[in-house]
Order: sequence, then structure tokens, then C-alpha cells
Amino acid sequence: MDKNKIRLDYNNMMADVIGSKGFTSADFDAVADRVDFAVDYFNEKKGTGFMGWTKLHDEQDAVVEDIIKTAEEVRSKFKNFVVLGIGGSALGPISAFQALCHLHHNEVNQGRRKNAPKFYVEDNVDPERMVALLNTIKLKDSCFNVITKSGSTSETMTQYLVIKDALEKAGLNPKEHIITTTSANSGNLIKIAKAEGYKTFYIPDGVGGRFSELCPVGLLPAAVLGIDIKKMLEGAKFMYESCVNGEKADNMALTAATLQFIAINKGHNISVMLPYADSLKFIADWYCQLWGESLGKNKLMDGTPCNIGQTPVKALGVTDQHSQIQLYTEGPFDKVITFIAVDKYRKKVVIPNGCEDFPNVNFLCGHTMNELITAERKATEYAVTKAGKLNHTIYLPTVNEYTLGQLMMFFELKTAYCGFMLNIDPFNQPGVEEGKNATYALLGRPGYEDKAKELRAGTKKLKKYMM
Ligand code: PA5
Repeated sequence: MDKNKIRLDYNNMMADVIGSKGFTSADFDAVADRVDFAVDYFNEKKGTGFMGWTKLHDEQDAVVEDIIKTAEEVRSKFKNFVVLGIGGSALGPISAFQALCHLHHNEVNQGRRKNAPKFYVEDNVDPERMVALLNTIKLKDSCFNVITKSGSTSETMTQYLVIKDALEKAGLNPKEHIITTTSANSGNLIKIAKAEGYKTFYIPDGVGGRFSELCPVGLLPAAVLGIDIKKMLEGAKFMYESCVNGEKADNMALTAATLQFIAINKGHNISVMLPYADSLKFIADWYCQLWGESLGKNKLMDGTPCNIGQTPVKALGVTDQHSQIQLYTEGPFDKVITFIAVDKYRKKVVIPNGCEDFPNVNFLCGHTMNELITAERKATEYAVTKAGKLNHTIYLPTVNEYTLGQLMMFFELKTAYCGFMLNIDPFNQPGVEEGKNATYALLGRPGYEDKAKELRAGTKKLKKYMM
């Protein structure tokens, strides 16, 4: 077996290991038709419609070279790189940054940052945060990457307008400081980018926001940070090939999707993502969007009404052992916990001596923090399993570009398969669009007058319920 391959251990989902709360072969037989459907449907649709993301690891050679060249220019000219985007246009860049850069990147010197600029992702429209950013960075030293697939998301367009205005007021040319990443064929940003002459990268058709980390959305920020984006794509390709083109029995993403599908059918409505590594903390956030937005739907593929989904929850080991684990161990049987384990942390810290007179502390001395975090993960896995709670573990040999690429592709494939098993469209987000449209209406965007009327008629508040 490839020693760089990520692995899945699902012993603690199975009845012959954990007892009656686990799954049996009868559970797998009962969903076999849905699993076959998911595989066939995936194979039929891959590369088409909203499954353009299945080609990203294979079809971006030219754009990757352009990204690397542009990233070099950015690195040589700017001290700050700021992503303006939200949802899928922010969470991928944040998680790759956290996984592959110094954990205190912005505080350490340039050498430790491997000559990368400081990095900020502004994924909110909280005015206090915007002012804080403008108080923190010097505009003349900053490059802004405006990322929006639709090219019209209010939050991102607002940030763009604020930054462009600030650049102009500072006597700077926005064209020298702004790079846009958007759809080539739709939305407003592409029109603005052409009119203003901004350097632009395109989000390929068929790549939705939450499936976009491996296109310019994620690759440009990653390359600016000095991350080896070719290795990330290689990792993704490896996972894709082994799942989609390998033996069905070896398809890790399909197995993981099937386990979650059985769990959902049995009423396990919560999916907890619990990485034991600070570097993977934001992978849990990224997963929450991917899983929540893709599977949470009120229509089956044929339009039949439903209310389907599994609520994702992010957690961090060991931190949340002192916050959420009590609930997971003793609370209801409504969750599936996904541990993410790292075989080899990139750093080692020995716990020094110094408490010889206190045996109850001294037992730690001479061990490493690596041993401690691993022991705590194993101990938590033991505790939740003993309590009969469903869990499984994804192992990363170490955290690097190659394993991160695999991990992201694994989750994307798992999400697509599970969506097809559930018989919903995992690639749309009408619930998000509804909120976006209501915002347009509230702020008077032309064309949304009827929506504004609908909002006025539909929002009623009674004083007696206000305190
Ligand atoms: O997954 C999605 O498509 C959404 O969550 C989007 O990422 C999010 O709404 C931002 O959209 P856009 O990139 O069009 O600004």
C-alpha cells in the first residue's frame, strides 16, 4: 500500500465490533440498490453539468502555470494578500492556509513565512472587522483577491466596493492591487473586471462554490502562500483515481458515504467532524459547508417534497474533549463522529522533567506532546465506542499538500455519492439563494421589487412576544 495514502478505519461502525448499535451485513444489503444507483449515476454524470469539479485534477495545466507565475509576482510585490469572498469562496483557502502554513503565519517573520505575504480572508460584512482590517494593513502593500462564482454575492461585492474606494482615496490604482476570480460567463464581477482591466482567473463551469478549492478559487491563494499546488492536485487525482476508477470494494469515499447513508436512515442526524490537529481545524469548517449545503434539501431529484440532511458539527481534538465530548459520550444516539488522526505530526515536543516530587504530574515527563495528543484521541475513541456511539477514523500519514488534496477529494466524492444515495441534488443551494435574493430585495436591487413585496407581506412580528 502507498504509505502516503490516507486511510479509513470503520470498525467502530460495525455490529461485530461494537455490538448491537453497529451496522450488520443486512444493513448494507438493504441499501445495496441505492449504492449501485449512486455509483452508476456518478459515472454517468461525472464531468458534466455541476460535476465539472471531477475534472479539476486533470485539466488545469495551463491555468496552474498562470497561477504560479501570478503568485510569484504577488509574493515579490506585496506584504499582504487579502481574500474577499464568502462560503465556498473563502473556506477552502482558509483551510489550506491553516493546514499548510505556519500556525502563527501572520505573526512570524518573513523567513518563517517562507517569504509569503501575510494572509487575511474577509468572509463577513461585519463593519467592525472591515475597519479592523483597514487599520491593520497598508493598502499600498496589499493585494486583494475578489472571489465570487456568481459574481453578484452582496457580501463580496460590498467588500470589493469598500476596498476599491479605499485604494482610490489612497491615490492607488485598483488595477494594480485587485485580482478577480469569477465565472467567465455570468454575473457582474466579470463585467466589472473587464471594464476595469483586472487580472482575472476563471472558475470553470460545473464547479460550485463548495467544490471549488482545487480550481483558481483555492489554488491562487495557496500558491501565493508558497503551497505546492501541483502536489495538492496530485493528491486529489490519486484519491479520485483510486475511488472512481479502482475496484468498488476499495472505494473509500463510497464506503464512507454508504456508512453515513445507513446512519441517516437510522436517525443519526448529526455528523461531527473531529480532527486531532490544529492544522486541520478549518477542514472541519470547510466540511460543514460541503456536507450541510450539499445534503440539506427539501426536494428529491424528481421534485417530490422531502426534508433531508445530516447536520454537520465542527469540533477540535483535544480542545473539545473539554467541551463537547461529554454530550457525545453520554447523550443521544443521534451522531456519527468522524475522527481525523495524523500518524506523524510535523513537529515534536518532549515534555520536560521538573515535577519529580509529584508522581501524578511526573508521569507526563519524558513523553512527547505527540504521544499525549495521540493517547487522548485513542482514549476518546475508546470512551465513545464503549458508550456505543458510532464513529470512524480517517488517518493522514502526515499533513502535507498531497494528503490534503486526497482528503478534500475524498470528502467531495463522499458528499456526491451520499447525495445520490439520498436521491437529492447535492450541487444546488436554493436555500442559500433564497436568502441572497431577500437581501437584494431589502436593499433595493432592481428586479427584486416583487421579492421586496413578498418580504413585507410575509414578515409579521407581534409585540406581545417581544421582551
Ligand atoms: O457552495 C456554494 O455555491 C455557496 O455556498 C457559495 O460558495 C457562496 O454562496 C458564495 O457564492 P459566490 O462564490 O457566488 O459568491
